[in-house]
Amino acid sequence: MRDQASTILGDNAMFNPETNLEGLVNIGTAENYIVFDEVASFIKSHDLGFKGVDFNYGEGPWGSTRLRKAMAKYINKYFHPYLPLEADNLLFASGCPSIFNMLGLTLGDPGDGILLSSPSYTAFPTDFGLIAKIKPIFVSFNRVDQFSPEVVQKYDDARKKAEKDGIRVRALMLCHPHNPLGQCYPKDTIIALMRFCNEHKIHMLADEVYSQSVYEIPDKAATKFVSVLSFDSSEHIDPNYLHFQYGMSKDLACGGLRLGVFHTRNVELMRAMNSITQFHWSGMADERIAITMLEDEQWMEKFLDTSRKKLAASNMLMRQLMDDAGIKYSHGSNAGFFFWVDLSPWLKEEDGKDGWEREEVLMKKLLNNKVFILNGGSQAAEEPGFFRVVFSHDERTLREGFRRLLKTLKE
Ligand SMILES: Cc1ncc(COP(=O)(O)O)c(C=O)c1O
Repeated sequence: MRDQASTILGDNAMFNPETNLEGLVNIGTAENYIVFDEVASFIKSHDLGFKGVDFNYGEGPWGSTRLRKAMAKYINKYFHPYLPLEADNLLFASGCPSIFNMLGLTLGDPGDGILLSSPSYTAFPTDFGLIAKIKPIFVSFNRVDQFSPEVVQKYDDARKKAEKDGIRVRALMLCHPHNPLGQCYPKDTIIALMRFCNEHKIHMLADEVYSQSVYEIPDKAATKFVSVLSFDSSEHIDPNYLHFQYGMSKDLACGGLRLGVFHTRNVELMRAMNSITQFHWSGMADERIAITMLEDEQWMEKFLDTSRKKLAASNMLMRQLMDDAGIKYSHGSNAGFFFWVDLSPWLKEEDGKDGWEREEVLMKKLLNNKVFILNGGSQAAEEPGFFRVVFSHDERTLREGFRRLLKTLKE
């Protein structure tokens, strides 16, 4: 794992249109590359005002009051919550995986389950499973639109099957906007899922880390983003069963700051989370950078606007390249940094190999040709041959990545 990570993510290995044309083009990892420079120049042009005390333990492992206030203000501005958030309702930890790990430990017992849609963000099973031993229960949709309210039946089928197998279902992950599909859930589907959770005493975990990366593109299937916080949900779900996660990694292009934030109105759950966050303490220097960004509201508005415009342009470019090459991809993707691409026609027949093994073969060939995209097999895809392609890059990187992808498909 470590070896593979340094091949794909190592600085020296990466393609750079200015300095390293031979490097690997990583259009597989979901980061907001397209605005990294905006963040770097903002930070460089600011005196972060570090004092000696900024390198101490701070106020404790839940995020300083100043950071929680700045984040509450940000959420109140951009997520339009029905009930405004207060700094006291927030808990910071060292990234979203820490929050998921803590939720696994506090909401369930080892062997309990969490409902995850197929396909699903690669790390959810590890985040909930590695330490807390919560089992992923992947919901299959058999090509039924998983963003329609009718999909509740599929969640219920998965729940019933799990319970028959002796797994207590404790939570449902609403990854909204969805990773890897890049789509938003319509409000009526969110409500239907809330009612389902409420009926079966299942905690709804809304992961909205891509919510400020929703952009305007001419795609009739695209849905506007509606946060779970933005309407009075108390008639659909007991507020004690609705929880929310966000972080600095995606919209705000700061994956390296390791700052995830959690919100709930469930007092007991917040108390339990607070009691174990010392293993997930974020650094004071990271917090100071985040505070500087969040408190500069004018810069933030411009930054998010630039990010959305750039993402929309890259999304359209990638669609164009796919269309020209006759590659099919999921429609309705107007959020996040990726969409779901069907490369199944290019899985080569090979003796004795099933579809998933042929997908692995294609993945290796792509890596040999120095382009990385993430295969569906590692994202709980329902059928082999699908890949998540990340487009949040400058045009030259995207075109080069796509050139290598096509070259591989033609081999
Ligand atoms: C849906 C989703 N949630 C959470 C995360 C984790 O973010 P981080 O570990 O940077 O906090 C990711 C990262 O890819 C993600 O895609």
